[in-house]
Amino acid sequence: MKILIACEESQAICIAFRQLWYEAYSCDILPCSWWHPEWHIQWDAIQEAYSGKYDMMIAHPPCTYLSNAGARFLYPKWVLNQDRYNKWLEAVDFFMKLYNAPIKYICIENPIPSKIYWLPQYNQTIQPYEHWHPYSKKTCLWIKWLPALLPTNIVKYESTKKAWNWFNKWWKDRQKNRSKTFPWIAKAIAQQRWDYITSIS
Ligand SMILES: C[S@@+](CC[C@H](N)C(=O)[O-])C[C@H]1O[C@@H](n2cnc3c(N)ncnc32)[C@H](O)[C@@H]1O
Repeated sequence: MKILIACEESQAICIAFRQLWYEAYSCDILPCSWWHPEWHIQWDAIQEAYSGKYDMMIAHPPCTYLSNAGARFLYPKWVLNQDRYNKWLEAVDFFMKLYNAPIKYICIENPIPSKIYWLPQYNQTIQPYEHWHPYSKKTCLWIKWLPALLPTNIVKYESTKKAWNWFNKWWKDRQKNRSKTFPWIAKAIAQQRWDYITSIS
C-alpha cells in the first residue's frame, strides 16, 4: 500500500505511517522541515495525487481562504474583495481536485469551512483533546472508504489560544505552527488506518 500525505511539510503523518512500515510520502511545494527528505516529494500535490501511484491519501489543503476566519475578509464594509474572491475560487478548486483524486482511500483535513463557501459536507470533526493533547481545535475530516477516527484518550482541555502557545514552543516557525498536525493525532490516523486496512485484507 502506497500512501500520499498531500500538503505536508512537517512529515508528522508520513513518519507515523513509516513507523508502521508503510511506504508513505509527504508532498508539499515547500521542502520538508523534518529529517527524511528521501520520503518527501517537493512539488505540486495535485499532480502527485493524479499520478496513479497511490492507494491512500491523507491531505491538508491550505485553509486560509476557506475557513470562517477567512470569510470575514470577503465582504469588508459590504463591498466584494475581488482578490479575496479569486483566491477563494482557487482554494475551492484545489480542495475539490484533491477530493476527486483517483485514489480509493481518502481523508482530507481542514478547519470548519465557512458556510458561504461551497464544499462537500464533512464526515466528522475531531479534537486534539480526544487524542492526549489537552487543547481544543476543532478540525473536520472528509473521508472516503475509511472509518471515522476514534478517540484514543480523551483528556481535559484548555483554550485554543493555549494550544497555539503550546505549538509555538514546539515548533520554531510561527507562521507554519498553526497548521502542523498534532503528533498524537498523526499517530492515531496512521494506527487506525493500519488497523482498518489489515482487517479487510
Ligand atoms: C494548512 S498547511 C498544512 C500543513 C500540514 N498540516 C503539516 O503538518 O505540514 C497547507 C500546506 O499546503 C502546502 N501547499 C500549498 N499549495 C500546494 C501545492 N500546490 N502542492 C503541494 N503543497 C501545497 C503549503 O506549503 C502548506 O505547507
